Amino acid sequence: MMLQRPVMVRTPVVRVPLWLMAIWWCLKTLTLAVVVAVRWWWISAPVLALAGLWWRLGWPGPVAALVAVAGGLVAWYSIDRASFDKWCWLRLLSRWRRFTYRRRWWSAMSTAGLVVRFNGRELLPEVKKVAARRGLDVLLVRMVTGQIPEDFAKVSERFAHTFGVVGVRVRPHRKPGLVYLTMVRRDPLAGVVPVLPVASTPDFRALPLGVREDGQTYELRLFGTQVLVAGATGAGKGSVIWSFVRSLAGGVASGQVRLWGFDPKGGMELGPGLPLFAKFACEDYAAMADLLDQAVTVARERAARLRGHTRQHTPTTDEPLIVLVVDELAALTAYLADRKLKERIRAALGLLLTQGRAVGVHVLAALQDPRKEVLPFRDLFPTRIGLRLAESSQVDLVLGDGMRDRGAVCDQIPQALPGVGFVVLDGDPTPVRVRFSFLADDDIRDMAGTYRPGGVIDGHTVPPRKPRPGPASGPGSGAGGRGSRENGWGLAA
Ligand SMILES: Nc1ncnc2c1ncn2[C@@H]1O[C@H](COP(=O)(O)OP(=O)(O)OP(=O)(O)O)[C@@H](O)[C@H]1O
Ligand SMILES: [Mg+2]
Repeated sequence: MMLQRPVMVRTPVVRVPLWLMAIWWCLKTLTLAVVVAVRWWWISAPVLALAGLWWRLGWPGPVAALVAVAGGLVAWYSIDRASFDKWCWLRLLSRWRRFTYRRRWWSAMSTAGLVVRFNGRELLPEVKKVAARRGLDVLLVRMVTGQIPEDFAKVSERFAHTFGVVGVRVRPHRKPGLVYLTMVRRDPLAGVVPVLPVASTPDFRALPLGVREDGQTYELRLFGTQVLVAGATGAGKGSVIWSFVRSLAGGVASGQVRLWGFDPKGGMELGPGLPLFAKFACEDYAAMADLLDQAVTVARERAARLRGHTRQHTPTTDEPLIVLVVDELAALTAYLADRKLKERIRAALGLLLTQGRAVGVHVLAALQDPRKEVLPFRDLFPTRIGLRLAESSQVDLVLGDGMRDRGAVCDQIPQALPGVGFVVLDGDPTPVRVRFSFLADDDIRDMAGTYRPGGVIDGHTVPPRKPRPGPASGPGSGAGGRGSRENGWGLAA
């Protein structure tokens, strides 16, 4: 066996004259100053400019410059607040916040157990970017090798206390190794979201329904899906329904979309917007079953016609998108005493949910109680929206397994925030908190007056279609007293 002996090394001593050392130090300090000045250019550039003015003009120079800049900013703020925020205020704020997060970063990571000790070195996640938005900051963080977003999600409450924010949400970046931390400073969804503008031709791939927590508009992709909304009583299911109807209103007016309303509460929910509905049923469950059967027939005929031609139906005025809006789905599928009728409704609904999406027959259904026995159709609704729910166990029933663990705390939404809920966006496993726009009864009536088929779109009057002779003037006053009607604007699909 070979005996290993330590090798003795002595650093050679080089004698350098003092003047050379002095030059070296000066160069080093100068380089450091330039690096710092460039790195913090947004501070150094104005300071240098002010110093230049003072050099040339004395005190009046920088004072006049500061007054002019302040005046310009105030004018910008008052004329166009959005662009001022986007290009000036939020950018400055982002830089400041980056500095403050970095200051506390090491201790925060250390106490959260996210510092990795490897090979005698300490590795900690790195803040790559900080973007300040209204009421929140989004941090892009590079994780240490071996860490996953779930590690950050587990300590999000700890982060909230460490950084003094009301909540922290964790979302993986599309690139592996990166994670977004959203630091919520004040609830951006605390205020009521007013009615959104109506597009004369709806984009069925992006219907605007409300506002997301990150400040962006929440857009629902209707093509290829069926939509379920679940929420306890008073959770704001009505605002989801009406935001949705409003997003389609331009298409309703032009005849590209036809709404069929099902309101088992006797017309309480959908009544104010009655003129928008081509077909409407609110009292008679047999009439509702008939309407569902009609929708299944339309879906089947279309499927037969489109087979081999296209995989997605394109709505036109001749072959419009049919959207069934159902308030309180359980009244149809569970609470109904007549078993035979209930089975008929269930069968039709099952067919519709599976066959309708590709052929332009869609369902938006609201539900109060999401228990399994109440809703056997959950998996047939690819898009699900969870508003405030009574129990934590209901969250996964509505949004899918594991969604509560990923942050969809529907059971913790306060009663004082109706219309707030969680949605799962396409291609993103993390639920997003949103608030739907709120339409008061008057807004609904105004919308119904403006966009009822044959109303006004973008200032252009579309002549009303000739009303069909016959009854039907309000909810429940349908043909033969069956609580169902085709609407008086002659729009039976
Ligand atoms: N998006 C919203 N923004 C602000 N307030 C809202 C919103 N949605 C609903 N509200 C308020 O909450 C109340 C209850 O809402 P809504 O009637 O839509 O609840 P719901 O879920 O339909 O309840 P229920 O199951 O009893 O019908 C409304 O009268 C309204 O005042
Ligand atoms: Mg309701």
